[in-house]
Amino acid sequence: MAMCSTFCPRIPHYSFLGATPAIRSISPSSPFRLSVRALSSPAQSSSSSSSPAKEIPGRIGFLGLGIMGTPMAHNLIKAGCDVTVWNRTKSKCDPLISLGAQYKSSPEEVAATCDVTFAMLADPESAVDVACGKHGAANGMSSGKGYVDVSTVDGATSKFISGRIQGTGALFLEAPVSGSKKPAEDGQLIFLTAGDKALYEMVAPFLDIMGKSKFYLGDVGNGAAMKLVVNMIMGSMMASFSEGLLLSEKVGLDPNILVEVVSQGAISAPMYSVKGPSMVRSQYPAAFPLKHQQKDLRLALGLAESVSQSTPIAAAANEMYKVAKSHGLSDQDFSAVIEALKAKQ
Ligand SMILES: NC(=O)c1ccc[n+]([C@@H]2O[C@H](COP(=O)([O-])OP(=O)(O)OC[C@H]3O[C@@H](n4cnc5c(N)ncnc54)[C@H](OP(=O)(O)O)[C@@H]3O)[C@@H](O)[C@H]2O)c1
Repeated sequence: MAMCSTFCPRIPHYSFLGATPAIRSISPSSPFRLSVRALSSPAQSSSSSSSPAKEIPGRIGFLGLGIMGTPMAHNLIKAGCDVTVWNRTKSKCDPLISLGAQYKSSPEEVAATCDVTFAMLADPESAVDVACGKHGAANGMSSGKGYVDVSTVDGATSKFISGRIQGTGALFLEAPVSGSKKPAEDGQLIFLTAGDKALYEMVAPFLDIMGKSKFYLGDVGNGAAMKLVVNMIMGSMMASFSEGLLLSEKVGLDPNILVEVVSQGAISAPMYSVKGPSMVRSQYPAAFPLKHQQKDLRLALGLAESVSQSTPIAAAANEMYKVAKSHGLSDQDFSAVIEALKAKQ
């Protein structure tokens, strides 16, 4: 059964701004001073299930500093964690380095020097590349370490990465997130985790820093599937909302009032009130890039196909996002899907 933990208290924050690098490591009273107890994959050790879950990894790696990864890593740094970062485009590491993060020049080096490494990559291809490619994280993993992939990928990709990581003796957890840029900044994400339970328990304090809730869903693939179902619903909702906004305008209504009406009724969702006003102004500052929403719909349709589940609404929505991509809107917010309907007219 899914578990949403509320037992783990938020760890007190330690501000290192202005501290010397020596002090910046970990205060003596910080829980992060505890060194990690050896983590082992079940295949290599039977002791993992009896390991006390209280011991907390000391050195945290973070790979992928995009819209989501940057605020997530930032929150770990603000909470006093010893964080080492890597990003394909190195310049995105610099703000976090100035806040106290350490830097390594490859995922392999990050994994080799850290107890647990988080990865927040764009899509299945980049997640596999960073985990399993040349100088990928798997090369730096070994028994006693853990890898937590928080990217949104499909179950097959997650299982492939899991196999490579566990093959080194390390533990693996998939933990895609529900929530966008603002929840990431506010530490209000929802983690949909699956994989090694011992690692889930080990990293729970870090998930609690970055998020407001977490679900443990069992075997690898279940977290990915849950995330894809959620984003399939979201993508269809946004496509339908776009149709409603344009229709209201065309019949002479004020779309701003439509946003208010929707926001006060039973179909209210924060997404409509947050995105609606800027959609009316044809402005789409990226919080969730449209290319990622289309990727998630594509992967969700593949998931549905694998079990012969009919998903006609999601399939139609996917076509709208594909049209929007063809109009050069990939890097805009996914609410720019409304432009696909304008372009058709
Ligand atoms: N934004 C949201 O609201 C949101 C919410 C929930 C889940 N997600 C999911 O979270 C993940 C990240 O989203 P995001 O919004 O942070 O995306 P983003 O801003 O586009 O960042 C993508 C990250 O992946 C890296 N990357 C891309 N291709 C790569 C490659 N071939 N090799 C190495 N690194 C590569 C990028 O590095 P560079 O900086 O070098 O390009 C960047 O660090 C996606 O799976 C997305 O679906 C996003």
